[in-house]
Order: sequence, then structure tokens, then C-alpha cells
Amino acid sequence: MHDFAAAIRTIADYPKPGIRFRDITTLLADPAIFRAAVDTLVAPYKNEDVDHVAGIEARGFILGGALAHQLSAGFVPIRKKGKLPHDTVRVAYSLEYGVDEMEMHRDAVSPGQRVLLTDDLIATGGTAEGAVKLLRELGAEIVAACFVIDLPDLGGRKKLEALGVDVRTLVAFAGH
Ligand code: PRP
Ligand code: MG
Repeated sequence: MHDFAAAIRTIADYPKPGIRFRDITTLLADPAIFRAAVDTLVAPYKNEDVDHVAGIEARGFILGGALAHQLSAGFVPIRKKGKLPHDTVRVAYSLEYGVDEMEMHRDAVSPGQRVLLTDDLIATGGTAEGAVKLLRELGAEIVAACFVIDLPDLGGRKKLEALGVDVRTLVAFAGH
């Protein structure tokens, strides 16, 4: 077994006092661990006929491209507002303080297509919840949502599961 938790760097008091920032750049930079993380994340979905992997800007793009390649699926970006050039669907989502908006191209996914959602980390689940809303607005069938890191004390995983989304994560860190 690979020790994914040990490959993730923790930075104390970043971006502000009291926060322990879980930094995946160290995991991504390690060739064997990065491959193992991608292989482990995609393993349950190899025979699930995934049409697209949807990755959430920005860190979800890094994983999403790799997962899509491994599944021979397409990649669809979910972007912060104002970045996509064609017709979009948009949703507001909650952040720790305040709200922001994210978008997808309206023609990125067709009704009934099977989509695997991914991001590096799920904390409060506000970001992933917004992504689920966008995908469902386009008629996607969400096969699952997968993340490298779960911060279970912040409740995001439960929030997604309450929406009927199957959630898979590699590493859980207690606390914030
Ligand atoms: C971080 C992380 C997730 C999100 C999780 O992204 O990459 O996308 O927060 O938080 P939540 O579950 O409480 O919504 P961030 O907004 O910092 O942006 P980035 O990926 O562009 O760095
Ligand atoms: Mg992010």
C-alpha cells in the first residue's frame, strides 16, 4: 500500500492562523505516488462506461486530466465565473466566507452522459455541491465524486452523500 497521507505536506497557519493547509504538490511531484493515486482513484470506474471526467478549477484540473486519460474518457472543466468563452450554465456556491460562482459550457455534457466528478479535496463540500448542481442541470448522470483528501470534520462528504452522490477519497485528515 502507498502512504498517500505521508506524501501530502501540511503547512501550519496557512493561509491564516489556525488553518493547517493540506498541500498536494508534494504528492503530485512524486512519480510513483502520483501514479498510484490516479490508479487507485480510477480503479472502481474502469468498467463503468464513464463518458467524461469533470474537474473543478483549479486543483481538480490536475487530477481530472489524468483520470480522464486513464479511463479513455473526455475531460470537462468546471471553471470559476467568466473564464469559459461559449454559452454557460452558472451556479453560486458557498465558500468559507461568502459565495462565488462557477460555470460549465452548456454543451459540455449531454443528458444521460455518465460523469465522474473530481477535485483534490473536499472540506465543507460547498464547491462540490455546486458542481453537482451544474452537472445535474445539464442532465448528467454522476457516477461518483472522487477526491484525494477528505476533511470529514467539515462535513462535505456527508453533504454530497445526502444528494445521492457516491463519494470516494484516498486520505482523511481529522480536524480542519
Ligand atoms: C479548495 C479545494 C477545493 C475546495 C474545497 O479550492 O481545491 O476545490 O477548496 O472546499 P469546500 O469543500 O469547503 O468547498 P480553492 O477554492 O481554494 O481553489 P483552487 O483549487 O483554485 O486553489
Ligand atoms: Mg479547488
